[in-house]
Formats: sequence, C-alpha cells, structure tokens
Amino acid sequence: MFLNLRVMLVSVLCLSIGTSLGSGVSSPDALNDGRRNITGDQTLVSVDGSFTLGFFSPGAPSRWYLGIWFSASTDAVVWVANRDNPLNDTAGVLVIDGAGILHLLDGSSRAAWSSNTTDGDTPSAAVAQLLESGNLVVRDESSGTVLWQSFDHPTNTLIAGMRLGRNPQTGVEWSLTSWRSPDDPATGDCRRAMDTRGLPDCVSWRGGAKKYRTGPWNGLWFSGIPEMASYSNMFTNQMVVRPDEVAYVFNATAGAPFSRLVLSESGVIQRLVWDADSRVWNVFARAPMDVCDDYAKCGAFGLCNVNTASTLFCGCVVGFVPVSPAQWSMREASAGCRRNAPLECRGRGATTDGFAVVSGVKLPDTDNATVDAGATLEECRARCLANCSCVAFAAADIRGGGGGSGCVIWVGDIVDVRYVDKGQELYVRLAKSELAANKKRGSLLKILLPVAACLLVLMCMFLVWICKFRHAP
Ligand SMILES: *[C@@H]1O[C@H](CO)[C@@H](O)[C@H](O)[C@H]1NC(C)=O
Ligand SMILES: *[C@@H]1O[C@H](CO)[C@@H](O)[C@H](O)[C@H]1NC(C)=O
Ligand SMILES: *[C@@H]1O[C@H](CO)[C@@H](O)[C@H](O)[C@H]1NC(C)=O
Ligand SMILES: *[C@@H]1O[C@H](CO)[C@@H](O)[C@H](O)[C@H]1NC(C)=O
Ligand SMILES: *[C@@H]1O[C@H](CO)[C@@H](O)[C@H](O)[C@H]1NC(C)=O
Ligand SMILES: *[C@@H]1O[C@H](CO)[C@@H](O)[C@H](O)[C@H]1NC(C)=O
Repeated sequence: MFLNLRVMLVSVLCLSIGTSLGSGVSSPDALNDGRRNITGDQTLVSVDGSFTLGFFSPGAPSRWYLGIWFSASTDAVVWVANRDNPLNDTAGVLVIDGAGILHLLDGSSRAAWSSNTTDGDTPSAAVAQLLESGNLVVRDESSGTVLWQSFDHPTNTLIAGMRLGRNPQTGVEWSLTSWRSPDDPATGDCRRAMDTRGLPDCVSWRGGAKKYRTGPWNGLWFSGIPEMASYSNMFTNQMVVRPDEVAYVFNATAGAPFSRLVLSESGVIQRLVWDADSRVWNVFARAPMDVCDDYAKCGAFGLCNVNTASTLFCGCVVGFVPVSPAQWSMREASAGCRRNAPLECRGRGATTDGFAVVSGVKLPDTDNATVDAGATLEECRARCLANCSCVAFAAADIRGGGGGSGCVIWVGDIVDVRYVDKGQELYVRLAKSELAANKKRGSLLKILLPVAACLLVLMCMFLVWICKFRHAP
C-alpha cells in the first residue's frame, strides 16, 4: 500500500518533470526569451538552492530592487541590478530579449535597468541562468558563449569566483562600491579597487581620497592583512596577473563554509563567514583594523606602531627625525620625517651610502615604485645603490622563503609604512655616518650590557658575603 503510493508519487514526479521539459518551460534557475519572466514574488533559484534572484525591498517600503541573495540568510544580498533606480512597487518585471539583453521594466514598461551585453554576433537564442556560485550568466544557447555575467558587475560584495581588479588593456575595472546606508543599495561614497601601479594593492577610497590600502600582494596575501594566511585552508587566495587582467580572486575549497567580502557604508571591508549550525555570520577579517591603517598617517618616512600609544603611534624610520617636532607634540604627524644626514651619491655606484633594514612592516605605497619580479634581492640592492634617486628597496615576493625574491625600488618619499604581524623587510638607504651611528649605538650596547651584568653579579656576591659575615657568630 505505502510502497504503491511511493511508486505512484515518483512516477507522477517523473511525468511532471518530463512534461515540463517537453513543453519547453525552463528550469527554476533559468530565464528564456519570451517563455518566462520574473515578476512580483517570482524568483530564480540556483540548482542546489544556495542563491535566489528576485525582488526585494530593504528598509523603507515602496522601493524595490532586483537582486541576488544568499538563500539561507536573505539579508545577505550579494548583487543588486537597479541600485540607483528603485521601482515604486512590485509590478516590475525582468525579461530577456532575443539579443540576450536583460531588461528590468517597471509597471509602465519603462526600463529601470538593463544589462550591457558585449557586442558581437547576435545569438540565435539566449538564456539567463543563476548558477550555484551566485553568478547570473547570460549565454548564447547554441554556442554556450557567455554574453554577460553579474560577476563582472560587482556591487558591494565579493564572493568566491568573483574578481577584484582591472583589465590594463581596456581599463575595465571590477571594483566594489558601498551602499549608501544599510537599507539603501544606492551607490555610496566608498569604493574599493585594485591599484595596479607598482605591486597590486587593494585601495579603499572615500570620494577622491585614499583611505586605506591592504598593502602590496606578497605572493601569498596582502601584506597588511596577515589574517589571510590563517584561513588559506578554507579559501585559496590568488592574484591573477595577465596582460588583460590583474585581479584578486578567492576560491572556496571543497566543504568550506560560504564566505563574502563586504564593503560597508563607512568603507570598512569585512570577510564574513556563514556558520550554518548557529546561523550567524562570523567576522574573519576586518580592515582597516586600527589607527595605523589610516593612509599615510605618519607622513613621509614615518613608521606607525600600534603598540606605542604613549608616543601617538608615529615614529620615524631609522635615520630620520620629525620634520616638525612642535607639530608632532600636537599629535599631528602627517608632515612626516626628514633625513638626519644627506645621502652621498655621485651615481653609477660611486657612493658611500648603505642600507638599514626595517623589519616586520607593511611595505610602503608602491604607486611610484619600480617592480622587477625577475631580479634577486642582491641585484636589487646593487640597482638601488647605482641609482641616486633610490631611497629604499624590498623583495616583491616572499613565497620562496629566505629574503624573498623580486625587486621593488622606491624613489622620492616612502609613505604608509606600519609594523604588522608577519611583515616584510624594507631596506632603507642611509648615509654612511648614519649607519655608523647606528652601528655605534648597537656596539656600545653590546659592550655595556655584559659589563653591567658582570657588575650586577659581583654586587650580589658582595652582598651575600656581607650578610654571611654579619650573621656569623
Ligand atoms: C514577458 O514580458 C514581455 C515584455 O513585457 C512580454 O512581451 C512577454 O509576453 C512576457 N512573457 C511571459 C511568458 O509572460
Ligand atoms: C515612482 O515614484 C516617483 C516619485 O514619487 C515618480 O516620479 C515616478 O513616476 C514613479 N514611477 C512609477 C513607475 O510609478
Ligand atoms: C553600456 O555600454 C556602452 C558602450 O560600451 C556605454 O556607453 C554605456 O554607458 C553602458 N551602459 C551601462 C548601463 O553600463
Ligand atoms: C575553485 O574551487 C573549485 C571547487 O573546489 C574547483 O573545482 C576549481 O577548480 C577552483 N578554481 C580555481 C581557480 O582554483
Ligand atoms: C607619486 O607621484 C605623484 C607625482 O609626483 C605624487 O603626487 C604622489 O603623491 C606619489 N605617490 C606616492 C605614494 O608617493
Ligand atoms: C632611477 O630609478 C628610477 C626608478 O626606477 C628611474 O625612473 C630612473 O630613470 C633611474 N635613474 C637612473 C639614472 O638610472
């Protein structure tokens, strides 16, 4: 009896699937030309249900947006189509036309948003499909060519498989732009983009002002976010460098929880990871994380140390002193530091200058730096000495261990240096007298310390002897 019922159910199910395929009704994750539209509370759901595309209204009523959200936590919106052009009601409809262009029409059939399909051959038939990765893809049905994808048009969220970067040939950028407020997806003030000058570096902007940079990519992680190393078993971090693409991509390893990188309205980027058991988002990384992350807080040749609250966090790189001690005492360090002793350089390596190493730092802004991934650190040192404009050098890539490989050369000022966990070594060019002074200070300590220790031991012995002598009967 029960068995029969089950068999019947299964056959009915098969039949209905068969008929739906036969009649050309699309699967729940796809949208075909003319055969299906999305309107009202209709949705597209990815094949295993992870993502949903549909209309949503955050906060204030009567503002409706077409978006994609993480199905298990519906307020985790990962993409918004008409962020700057909300609909007044739920009468909006998403259609795909014969050319494979998506149109979002309002109740009066006016376009509120449309996709910009790359020009090329007009497809015979196009289909839009919401993939299990959260990517909405428009494909030519016959050739399979991707005509458009939501992953190429990020809003404020980066998820596995999306790129943050740019195409140096066309200038096309994949960047994040914040919402205006937590319940308003309109384009906000903060932007996060890949800076491809020098070493690749992710930079947060508020309007036209640089607010924070992750630090350059060191082959394994962005040097200002050492936490990235701690979850590389869950999410593989990758920097793609090709003539047509310089981009950061992360990928989830098999079985890893869902994770998203979100740029907040105030410009804070957070990596949130979904804990499916407790149904909460956990924060794995947050940047900027402290005062030393404020861009160029300590000015040129300044060095920020978050553990020195007593000295307003700012110091100078070895061999430098504050430009304006009066301003520094007023907690205003942005004027930076100046050299104690001028460099002595006649070019072509005819110099008495040398280098002091500053260890454990986020490397300075590389916007105006020259990068050569092929050089060794020794070659880098020689190149820096041979060029009178060179003020510092460092390895570009720490993957090989040792001192690292590749060569970054800075000319002019170095800015935005801070101490950071698992930081790199920066070699700062100094005049011979400065190096000698440093060495002298060092060697003086080396002599004084043992002498002091000896004296201490002798004194103790003397005290013990006195005590014994006194108490002796
Ligand atoms: C989808 O919308 C378009 C444009 O509004 C309309 O022409 C078409 O008939 C609709 N298709 C279905 C199946 O509702
Ligand atoms: C939506 O509301 C705005 C402002 O009230 C109005 O100007 C616009 O015409 C409305 N659009 C539709 C499609 O009703
Ligand atoms: C679509 O592409 C054209 C040409 O590339 C461009 O001028 C236009 O601004 C784009 N529109 C959108 C909404 O991106
Ligand atoms: C990303 O992860 C998936 C599943 O683990 C794997 O199949 C795919 O090859 C990975 N892609 C890259 C670029 O590493
Ligand atoms: C790079 O050089 C330009 C032009 O001289 C200057 O305005 C800018 O501040 C420099 N950037 C850095 C990070 O030093
Ligand atoms: C010094 O290095 C800078 C940056 O790499 C370069 O622009 C400049 O031409 C070099 N100068 C000399 C004399 O080689």
